Amino acid sequence: MLPRMVKIPTLETERLRLRPLRENDFEEYAALYADPEVLRHLGGGPEPWDRGRSWRHMAFIRGHWEIAGAGMWVAERKEADAFLGLIGFAAPEGWPGFELAWTLARRCWGHGYATEGARAALAHAFTVLKKDRVISLIHPENRSSIRVAERIGESPQGRILHFGREMLCFGIDRETYLRGAAHLEPAEVGAGLFPPAGLPPGVQEAP
Ligand SMILES: CC(C)(COP(=O)(O)OP(=O)(O)OC[C@H]1O[C@@H](n2cnc3c(N)ncnc32)[C@H](O)[C@@H]1OP(=O)(O)O)[C@@H](O)C(=O)NCCC(=O)NCCS
Repeated sequence: MLPRMVKIPTLETERLRLRPLRENDFEEYAALYADPEVLRHLGGGPEPWDRGRSWRHMAFIRGHWEIAGAGMWVAERKEADAFLGLIGFAAPEGWPGFELAWTLARRCWGHGYATEGARAALAHAFTVLKKDRVISLIHPENRSSIRVAERIGESPQGRILHFGREMLCFGIDRETYLRGAAHLEPAEVGAGLFPPAGLPPGVQEAP
């Protein structure tokens, strides 16, 4: 076990466990980021990562928890302890907000796991971490990720230039979350029942 200053919580949902990243996740981790389909809409482009880059990214994920007190969890299926991918938070220096992100191995798409895990993480952000706002930066062509954002109650806040790429900024503020938007169907949220209150810094109004 790594010596740990921050106690990383474990969250459970009906089917999933969100748990701290461990050294022995490395093979699954390296495989996840060696898949160009997984990488297609992520910041660094579709070029598969070599094992060294995955290792350094694992170190970043663990270090992020130590420094920020929050970060990405490994999502696994409870019944099989099966590694699905990563769900959780990213907010390094210079980030436009407290981001909730999700990346699953391709074999795990289409089961609702990302939405289920992201809902638990969102609840953690507002009820435990007491965040005022959570955002998700999503490539405009990443339809399945946009659907996850909508299902958990995030709404489009605008567009932002992020590492040279134009990304959609989805988000939800604390008040909206607590009013129950996260539990509504996207159509109801989109109907304007819960308009976003203000924009995060650096985010422009959507056209
Ligand atoms: C983004 C990503 C996590 C979305 O994965 P996903 O499997 O589409 O999303 P979910 O886990 O929420 O699953 C939802 C789908 O499962 C289906 N589903 C099947 N069984 C289900 C169940 N029991 N409960 C809920 N949904 C279920 C839903 O109908 C839905 O399909 P639809 O979107 O075609 O309507 C995945 O595409 C991914 O990892 N991409 C690569 C990394 C990436 O781009 N990350 C986002 C960066 S912004």
